[in-house]
Amino acid sequence: MKTLHGKWSLITGASRGVGLHISEGLANLGSNLILHSRELAHTEIIAKKLKLLGVQVITVSGELSDQGQVDRFLDEALSKAGQIDIVYNNAAIMTPYRQNHLETPAEDYRTSFEVNVISLARICNRLLPSMIERKWGRIINLTSGIQEQPELSAYSVSKAAVDKFVRDFVPKLAGTGVQMNLLDPGWLRTDLGGPNAPNDPVTVLPGALVPALLNDGVSGRFMRAQDYSGLELASALEKALAK
Ligand SMILES: NC(=O)c1ccc[n+]([C@@H]2O[C@H](COP(=O)([O-])OP(=O)(O)OC[C@H]3O[C@@H](n4cnc5c(N)ncnc54)[C@H](OP(=O)(O)O)[C@@H]3O)[C@@H](O)[C@H]2O)c1
Repeated sequence: MKTLHGKWSLITGASRGVGLHISEGLANLGSNLILHSRELAHTEIIAKKLKLLGVQVITVSGELSDQGQVDRFLDEALSKAGQIDIVYNNAAIMTPYRQNHLETPAEDYRTSFEVNVISLARICNRLLPSMIERKWGRIINLTSGIQEQPELSAYSVSKAAVDKFVRDFVPKLAGTGVQMNLLDPGWLRTDLGGPNAPNDPVTVLPGALVPALLNDGVSGRFMRAQDYSGLELASALEKALAK
């Protein structure tokens, strides 16, 4: 099923964890890829491997807490790819676990908002106009099901801000052909999720691909990748449409 043949997908944080699996899943659907991480070296081998699937792959680098770097890598990606049709705003940081949550430093909130929210908003705001003009686009913003853990509040409130950002866009996107949705990958054994997480990172597929493939015009949906774990992609899409 090469349903995304000819599309260009940007995946932030493509070097490991969730972003790596999403990139592989998109390449298997025929999408060309723009792989982002902080250093080009982090995606070099992945790019070589994914090119073997017959897709074009570009690598870009940028620190997401620096909005100048975000602008630079988007410029580079657009000049090389021509256009970006699908975006997975996947890269994020989790601030340290603060045993005494009442002493969470302000810096935790600042850095998590810079990386997890402000850069995500900047990428969306930059790419949405051209998607709307072309009448097709998919933006998938990674969120989290984290709850009742004030020790990680700088991280969790940044994800709540992402949810609000997406939901408030819903009326603007109606009838445009552009869809922006939320994806919770589930608790996974990645560098961010840690070794005690119950799920292997590969279980993010096929669910993570569903919001890129749905053509139902729906935006603002909170999708859980784990709801589709173990399904074939076609069954996952059927399940999503039945919701
Ligand atoms: N894992 C979980 O249990 C879990 C649960 C709920 C939600 N999520 C969400 O899923 C997404 C992916 O998480 P993950 O577990 O795959 O994370 P991860 O394994 O820690 O990978 C993070 C990725 O983001 C990039 N990155 C990190 N800090 C960055 C920065 N300051 N600027 C630019 N890029 C940066 C990294 O690139 P480098 O190669 O440059 O380091 C890496 O590719 C995140 O949005 C996370 O909040 C994860």
